[in-house]
Amino acid sequence: MTSDPLLQWREEFPILSRCTYLISNSLGAMPRAVYERLKTYADTWAGQGVAAWGSGWFELPQTVGNSIAPLMGAAPDTVLVHQNASIANSILFGALDFSDSRRDKVVITELDFPSDVYALRSWLPAGMRIHTVRSRDGISIDIDELLAAIDERTRLVSTSHVLFRSGFIMPAAEITAKAHSVGAQVLFNGYHSVGVIPVDVAAWNVDYYIGGVLKWLCGGPGGVFMYVRPDLLPSLKPKVTGWFASRAPFAFDVEELDLRADAYRLMNGTPGIASLHAIQPGVEIVAAIGVDAIREKSLRQTALIIKLADAAGYQVFSPRADERRAGTVTVKPPHAWGVAQELLARGIMIDYRPKAGIRIAPHFYNSEDEIQRAMSAIGEILADGSWRRHQAAEEA
Ligand SMILES: Cc1ncc(COP(=O)(O)O)c(C=O)c1O
Repeated sequence: MTSDPLLQWREEFPILSRCTYLISNSLGAMPRAVYERLKTYADTWAGQGVAAWGSGWFELPQTVGNSIAPLMGAAPDTVLVHQNASIANSILFGALDFSDSRRDKVVITELDFPSDVYALRSWLPAGMRIHTVRSRDGISIDIDELLAAIDERTRLVSTSHVLFRSGFIMPAAEITAKAHSVGAQVLFNGYHSVGVIPVDVAAWNVDYYIGGVLKWLCGGPGGVFMYVRPDLLPSLKPKVTGWFASRAPFAFDVEELDLRADAYRLMNGTPGIASLHAIQPGVEIVAAIGVDAIREKSLRQTALIIKLADAAGYQVFSPRADERRAGTVTVKPPHAWGVAQELLARGIMIDYRPKAGIRIAPHFYNSEDEIQRAMSAIGEILADGSWRRHQAAEEA
């Protein structure tokens, strides 16, 4: 129907033939090649047994990290794959030195992902305080206000590169520059950026960057990537740690943990080798397409969603400016929760977030027809009243 060259990738993703999959901000579609990659894993385990550790398993968190690194502007061997962001955050927060009493402040925003803040609170020593920059519209953060909050008392700015409810892109380079100008560091959550918008942690001089593979990288659950600026590694003293972080894991020395100097310094125990296999096909496909082509298409499709929402008179809870909008558009028609449930019942996969609305997240494999279908379905559901079928569940 169209000359969109990215649609040729559709056949690599089985679920696309079964439903209208517009939920890549929650779980990216599974590439068909994952079946083969998991078979490789099983064959290696079955055939080599314990010898598999010597034929690539031990290095796999870094091997996979190295395939993600170019998608975020990171140098080789600076990205390590961990199990989830909550754990990766705990590894990092536990390893940071918060002992300078002149720096007792951590700056976050009201629209950050909750578990980032849960982990932060649980690791901050007594005497440290959190400064939360509020949002005025539920969509964005006032950047001037955020920059003003970063001052000489700030130890760390911990926030999202892209806000999960609205898809608002925070100016990572500007925030980093301000933090560094006052002697503070930055950690960005990159769950909604890498794979759908250009990211360049090295050019922006970012200190720490943690994001997941399961959304825009189509890598499945069980993998997040953690970047640490290499010159900062020696200053990190992990409390969440284990034998994989040791220079001599097979010395089994209980007296002393001699931490490695490279990214493995922040490893802990045995990694989930199966997920590390499942991650690879999605990352390879995103790399083969290139983030610039993905971004160009994403901007076109998210603009279309906004145009159709405006035409129907629905509230839009995402930035309208291209340079501030990532891959998700959140729309709020009347009765949004019931409408979302009915969309799901009709095989149109989206999600609903309180204080926001229905998040619609096309990726490189979606067609414009699918977007038109989803937006028309919202109109039909409102017109025929089928959103009411879900009212009881909402009230319960
Ligand atoms: C912005 C953001 N951060 C983190 C997560 C998940 O965190 P974790 O990897 O700890 O499950 C999500 C998942 O939905 C998210 O949207």
